[in-house]
Amino acid sequence: MSEVKKIAVVAGDGIGPEVVEEAIKVLRQTEELFGYKFELEHGLFGGIAIDEKGTPLPQDTLEMCQKADAVLLGAVGGPKWDNNPKELRPETGLLGIRKALGLFSNIRPAVVFDCLKDASTLKPEVLDGTDLIVVRELTGGIYFGEKFRRESANGGGQEAVDTCVYNVKEVERIAHQAFDIAQKRRKRLASVDKANVLETSRLWRETVVRVSEQYPDVELEHVLVDNCAMQLLRRPSSFDVIVTENMFGDILSDEAAMLTGSIGMLSSASLGEGSFGLYEPVHGSAPDIAGQGIANPIATILSVALMFRLSFGFGEAADVIERAVKNVLDAGHRTGDIAVDKSKAIGTTAMGDLIVAAMAR
Ligand code: IPM
Ligand code: MG
Repeated sequence: MSEVKKIAVVAGDGIGPEVVEEAIKVLRQTEELFGYKFELEHGLFGGIAIDEKGTPLPQDTLEMCQKADAVLLGAVGGPKWDNNPKELRPETGLLGIRKALGLFSNIRPAVVFDCLKDASTLKPEVLDGTDLIVVRELTGGIYFGEKFRRESANGGGQEAVDTCVYNVKEVERIAHQAFDIAQKRRKRLASVDKANVLETSRLWRETVVRVSEQYPDVELEHVLVDNCAMQLLRRPSSFDVIVTENMFGDILSDEAAMLTGSIGMLSSASLGEGSFGLYEPVHGSAPDIAGQGIANPIATILSVALMFRLSFGFGEAADVIERAVKNVLDAGHRTGDIAVDKSKAIGTTAMGDLIVAAMAR
């Protein structure tokens, strides 16, 4: 019998609630198989919270998350809120929850499942052996620097300013995270920056080099972000761990996602200093398919496996979930986003049920 783990569930908007429901079935199945006890508490977040509480991140939702051992998040956003002012946008809630919970490190694995190689837009031989992790800095950089508008001095009309700021401590802590992860994998770290142009990137590079002295067994390469975007398409399997700042990581992790054929397959973890973490699929709320029961729940289900491994130390249960997903895919079951023959695609609930049924110790 293990202790009770508290999980805060913020399903959000669009397909969020649909995919989260399947992930919860998987969680419950691990209670059966391993004797775990999970206490789930649900909170409003994102667009639905704007509608019901007038803010994307209500105080009671934040407090619920702060008291939990981990957070499971679905997705937020949708056209309904796209034209709202900044404080009333779901994305503002997402940035706010990351900052308020101190989640400075975003881990996004991109693994190509052999049986899904034909779902990618790249040639299968380019994808062979691709298994990489993007470690993205999540609470600094241009996302969180000072932003404002003013009248331009040279008659150009109104101008907008976004500032990109990083300090040494922020770079050090994400670098340590990335080196630690690389040390447990193939021991290769690519640090991505734009040090030929940006001062923040020069500080980033200096700091990463200094941290690297503590990890002599990890091979470090520096890659400029534009070159990295290119190499990801040219030689994806040569990457092991990629560490980069907030905005570069946002862009490169979407690119890495497409190597796998579907963004519907990718899980992510956002971590701070301790074991607490927030887990969510990389994909968004997909308003175009919401409510139709056709969304792929695998990314959210794999996010539960990440939660088990990174926050709870439940490695065996994480293996059981990942193996079940692989077996179901190997047996040929596909949701629409990864199906080659769309007429044979199955729905969200059917995929969740198959994965639960395939879970065995
Ligand atoms: C992501 C998303 C968010 C980001 C948006 C929705 C604010 O693109 O999680 O990658 O840019 O971080
Ligand atoms: Mg993004």
